Amino acid sequence: MRIFSGIQPTGRKHLGNYIGAISQYVRLQDEGDPAIYCVVDLHAITVNYDPAELRDRLYDTTAILLASGLDPERCILFRQSDVAEHTELTWMLAATSTAHGDLNRMHQFKDKAIAQRELVSAGLFFYPVLMAADILAYNTDLVPVGDDQRQHLELAREIANKFNSRFGETFVVPEFTIPDVGARIMDLQAPENKMSTTSSSEAGTIYVLDEPKAIEKKFKSAVTDSGSDVVRDKEKPGISNLIEIYAVVRGVTMEAVESEFADSRYGEFKQAVADAVIEYLAPVQEKYTELRADEANLEAVLAAGAAKASAIAQPIVARARDKMGLGRPVV
Ligand code: TYM
Repeated sequence: MRIFSGIQPTGRKHLGNYIGAISQYVRLQDEGDPAIYCVVDLHAITVNYDPAELRDRLYDTTAILLASGLDPERCILFRQSDVAEHTELTWMLAATSTAHGDLNRMHQFKDKAIAQRELVSAGLFFYPVLMAADILAYNTDLVPVGDDQRQHLELAREIANKFNSRFGETFVVPEFTIPDVGARIMDLQAPENKMSTTSSSEAGTIYVLDEPKAIEKKFKSAVTDSGSDVVRDKEKPGISNLIEIYAVVRGVTMEAVESEFADSRYGEFKQAVADAVIEYLAPVQEKYTELRADEANLEAVLAAGAAKASAIAQPIVARARDKMGLGRPVV
């Protein structure tokens, strides 16, 4: 089973990314044939950015992934812009197999377009096509993602199907997997919104690299709901989110959390969630500091990953190009 997923090097990675995606990547790395993980710098440039900062954030993200347990001997970890097939296939898919109307319906495009103060780039509109190219270039079977990527993954499947029906069986139509618990971690200050680098408040977002004191402060000031019982309820999005976080971090069910805290009040429970998250992130933070200091090593890991990724993507994209009647015929 071939596994592929991508993660943006924008901003700082948060607990939602960690629980919804990174921990899945680590769990799946031995099940992939191979498991391929891509730091998607070409996606990150679709909104306003600073070039020097982009490279720094790319190293940060790579170091976080390695510190979380991705092992370049057991998976392929690479930078998207190092493998030219991603951009080439984007155009091929955009021109022949992507409906303008489908791109127009993408929620993330609408949300991000509203948030842009200056330029809403055509690249932002094409973002989901680049994502489909990432996935299809490797004949991916399974894509682990958080809940917010569902619409993009459905579109990637649609694009693969359109291409295959027009040019003949070429691409694997990818499945995707979203975790049962932890697929949508919410902002601690506004629990009706997902935790996110771009739209969340600083106080409502737990970053993977936050100091223990900051984590404690953010959980203690998390917005909770009326009442005082630690139970999940549609009317209690704040406490429900904390129950979900605690369950994932401790590796127990949400029912078990409710019974563990049946006699507790919010304050006590928030402290317990803070302690659990601090303990959960500590080993990642420790390894991160060591890995982040050695940029030459991070570059070497990414370069080795890009060589392996290229070797897989190249024949797949060459075959698609041939079917489309582009370039010289493949003999
Ligand atoms: P990015 O970097 O925004 O997010 C990386 C992963 O984190 C998940 N995620 C969350 N999970 C739970 N709760 C949250 N609050 C939360 N916020 C984010 C995302 O679902 C994602 O899995 N477009 C992708 C990157 C990408 C990609 C791909 C993914 C590019 N090409 C190909 C899969 C396959 C993104 O925005 O990632």
